[in-house]
Amino acid sequence: MHKILSNNQIAQDVYLMTVEGTFEGRMGQFYMLRAWGHYPVLSRPISIYNLEPDSIQFLYKAGGEGTARFASLRPGDSIQLEGPFGNGFPEVDGKTALVGGGIGIAPLFYTARQLDKPDIYLGFRGASYMTEAFAPYASELVVRVDANLLLDVDMQKYDNIFVCGPLGMMEAAARMAEGLETKLYVSLEKRMACGIGACYGCSVRTASGNRKVCSDGPVFQAQEVAWHEKLSV
Ligand code: FES
Repeated sequence: MHKILSNNQIAQDVYLMTVEGTFEGRMGQFYMLRAWGHYPVLSRPISIYNLEPDSIQFLYKAGGEGTARFASLRPGDSIQLEGPFGNGFPEVDGKTALVGGGIGIAPLFYTARQLDKPDIYLGFRGASYMTEAFAPYASELVVRVDANLLLDVDMQKYDNIFVCGPLGMMEAAARMAEGLETKLYVSLEKRMACGIGACYGCSVRTASGNRKVCSDGPVFQAQEVAWHEKLSV
């Protein structure tokens, strides 16, 4: 178990939790978090928002029963963390853009810190949050509220684009990148049970068959994903 140092609400239903300890992780990976005994049964997968030598941070949305439980935790409370899990964003060369929608910005902060000043596009419904944290790591930072963020992204300008956000936004980005040289990577979200590739509960359809979001992903090349089919299997 690890000690929670802070757990602050930073927007409606959005919280930033800092947990004490020495943790590892690459950009786009996640941890399985648990702060209860037997119920709710499943741990919750939460992306790494930030890593420091003596702590890890998670930016999460309190939507379901498990994440609402996380939101009620106070400094000094304990939480169980397992990870890091998953294949995150790849190491890339060339000009890179990060595109995040809503709570999908969560894995992009640590990612931005690992890259050499990418352009960063962040979109929100209602109100923005955490954008000032991204600013020092961005070559150009574009923030849009209640607007179609993708209209601002000139995809051909980039060698690589990493996208995390609502499924519809990632699918629209995939369509925009069709036929371009630009490599587009998306970070998919699915309910997970085991988090380590053992239960097949998180499978999605791809061009190369069913793949597991937890262990084959959560990051996939956009053209691999079978967007035209129902993603879940
Ligand atoms: Fe069990 Fe992915 S959550 S295989």
